Amino acid sequence: VSGFVSLVGAGPGDPELLTVKAVRRLQEADLVLYDALVAPEAVALALHAQRFSVAKRAGRQSFAQDTIHRLMIRAARQGKRVVRLKGGDPFVFGRGGEEALALASAGVPFEVVPGITSAIAAAALAGVPVTHRGLATGFAVVSGHAEPAYASALDSLAPNSLTVVILMGLGSRRAVARRLLDRGWAAGTPAAIFFGASTPDAASWVGDLGRLGDANLPESNDAPGTIVIGSVVSLSAAIGRGAVPDVAVALAGVAR
Ligand SMILES: C[S@@+](CC[C@H](N)C(=O)[O-])C[C@H]1O[C@@H](n2cnc3c(N)ncnc32)[C@H](O)[C@@H]1O
Repeated sequence: VSGFVSLVGAGPGDPELLTVKAVRRLQEADLVLYDALVAPEAVALALHAQRFSVAKRAGRQSFAQDTIHRLMIRAARQGKRVVRLKGGDPFVFGRGGEEALALASAGVPFEVVPGITSAIAAAALAGVPVTHRGLATGFAVVSGHAEPAYASALDSLAPNSLTVVILMGLGSRRAVARRLLDRGWAAGTPAAIFFGASTPDAASWVGDLGRLGDANLPESNDAPGTIVIGSVVSLSAAIGRGAVPDVAVALAGVAR
């Protein structure tokens, strides 16, 4: 029997946001390798599988990326059905592309099961459409992980031309805000940070670009956060209130 690897997106956190195909693959899996931001309830769907966390711990990867590749390839060659479960969508800042390349070059059959990315869902769940007629004709998703990751991307955008979504950007929010302001973005551009979207830890900060750098993060909340910058954020008051009573809009406030 030939094994098979599914690179599966688990969505932003709420297990109900898994796709039907993701649930099916988990139920049929022999081995699940999962990341940190994946909900335990999603992993628990893999009733018959060996389940291993390959998450980062204290900022360090517990398994090197090539170890993950080797684990998947070896298990598939043993005839196992492997699910590589990742938060959000596997091909959005999840190193899913690298894993797909490794599987392809090893000749291991695999598939990609897209997931709901937090780049869109974190905003949507708080009542912010990333595009909206008259407000934003597009959106750019950028990693805030390190300056080389975002500098040229942000610099290439005409000021206030698009919605900017920044993942992994909580630590660099000050530098990102400064950069956009220096490029001519208006200080009054609506901006928000959505934490733990679709999870019980959901919270948000809503303000503007001028205050984003000094936005206080909720203490005691180590939930992942997504930054959204652009006029569409102003819709959260109208859409968010009506649509999602369970999204806690706990204003974290701004630094005094
Ligand atoms: C390594 S990236 C992976 C992104 C993932 N592949 C996706 O498509 O959502 C992790 C970042 O995603 C964002 N993120 C993930 N889950 C989130 C959630 N529930 N709420 C808000 N942001 C989230 C945060 O910006 C976090 O730093």
